[in-house]
Amino acid sequence: MLKFLSTIRQKDATKLFAAISVALFLCIIVNSRNDSTSRIRKSAVEHIAKNYSAWHNCLMKNISKYDGNSIELWKNLGAGIKLCESIEEMKGLSIGDYSNSDETKRHILPNRKILSVIITLGIGHDTAAEEKLIKDLPHGSEFFGADPMHEINEDLYTKLPGKYFPFAVANSSGFFEANVLHNVSYTTKTVVTIDIIYFLKNLVKKTFIDDIWIDAEGAEYGIFDYFFNGGKFDENGITFCQFNIEVHDPKDQQKKLFHDFIFQLLKDRKYAIYRPVQGYHMRLFMVNFANEECVYKNIL
Ligand SMILES: *[C@@H]1O[C@H](CO)[C@@H](O)[C@H](O)[C@H]1NC(C)=O
Ligand SMILES: *[C@@H]1O[C@H](CO)[C@@H](O)[C@H](O)[C@H]1NC(C)=O
Ligand SMILES: *[C@@H]1O[C@H](CO)[C@@H](O)[C@H](O)[C@H]1NC(C)=O
Ligand SMILES: *[C@@H]1O[C@H](CO)[C@@H](O)[C@H](O)[C@H]1NC(C)=O
Ligand SMILES: *[C@@H]1O[C@H](CO)[C@@H](O)[C@H](O)[C@H]1NC(C)=O
Repeated sequence: MLKFLSTIRQKDATKLFAAISVALFLCIIVNSRNDSTSRIRKSAVEHIAKNYSAWHNCLMKNISKYDGNSIELWKNLGAGIKLCESIEEMKGLSIGDYSNSDETKRHILPNRKILSVIITLGIGHDTAAEEKLIKDLPHGSEFFGADPMHEINEDLYTKLPGKYFPFAVANSSGFFEANVLHNVSYTTKTVVTIDIIYFLKNLVKKTFIDDIWIDAEGAEYGIFDYFFNGGKFDENGITFCQFNIEVHDPKDQQKKLFHDFIFQLLKDRKYAIYRPVQGYHMRLFMVNFANEECVYKNIL
């Protein structure tokens, strides 16, 4: 009997020991997982800082001699961006192409199944790029599009499905002389504009935006400084993880604005610039390397 009891106790003790070991083991795993995820979250920007610096050094080295020369910067920026987007430290970015009938939008898909918010400024009778992107994004991601010409655009954008707004978006509410696609050709037309801050905060009701596609027929010049550190977007707590921008056929004065835009973005060290496509216009793709959520979602 005693022998029997002691065997039981021995078995119990063994079981107890095993149970404690398993519990300890699980505890360590859970804790270390918690530790490592919170460490990545806290320092997503730091994790990628060296990569960003390498890109930044590369582009500064290539274009700093055009600081103060906006005509030459316009001519030479594209080559510099192409050089620097192909360095080793940028190889891990998966920039996707989403083309429509006359151009290609760029987008980095989220690494994790987190819903996205995409905004189109200037739909131009063509949502082929949005249609491709919506298939690649987690189900439930939201699309918002504005274009002053509601024929065709409203139908196309609503079908995505997306929410359509019948006006142009600019740095203030009022009127704007825009080249718009009407029927089959571009004509100059006075269009109604809505202030971009009001548009985002009160109509779209989003301040964390994964990607905004800006094709604003010249109105983009008026919002360049909104993207700067401490600018209108920062002031209003608005974040863009990525943006595509078409810089519209600049006159010399606008090349100066563009020059100041590029050099201030570099000074701010928030965005990196990729995929230049240049004709009369220049299209660029910008990626935010300074926001924790953005870096965690798209780059790490
Ligand atoms: C994870 O870590 C945070 C802070 O370090 C802590 O507050 C939280 O309780 C932890 N969660 C788990 C499941 O251990
Ligand atoms: C910038 O890069 C382009 C493309 O590689 C190259 O042709 C040009 O010489 C470079 N300029 C400078 C100043 O490094
Ligand atoms: C960061 O740079 C390293 C090389 O230094 C590279 O292996 C890695 O892919 C880069 N990360 C990204 C997101 O490009
Ligand atoms: C649109 O263009 C077509 C083809 O050029 C023309 O036949 C039609 O009358 C135009 N419609 C309007 C409303 O301008
Ligand atoms: C708004 O944008 C226009 C160009 O579209 C520019 O001329 C004007 O100075 C801008 N206004 C402000 C307050 O930034």
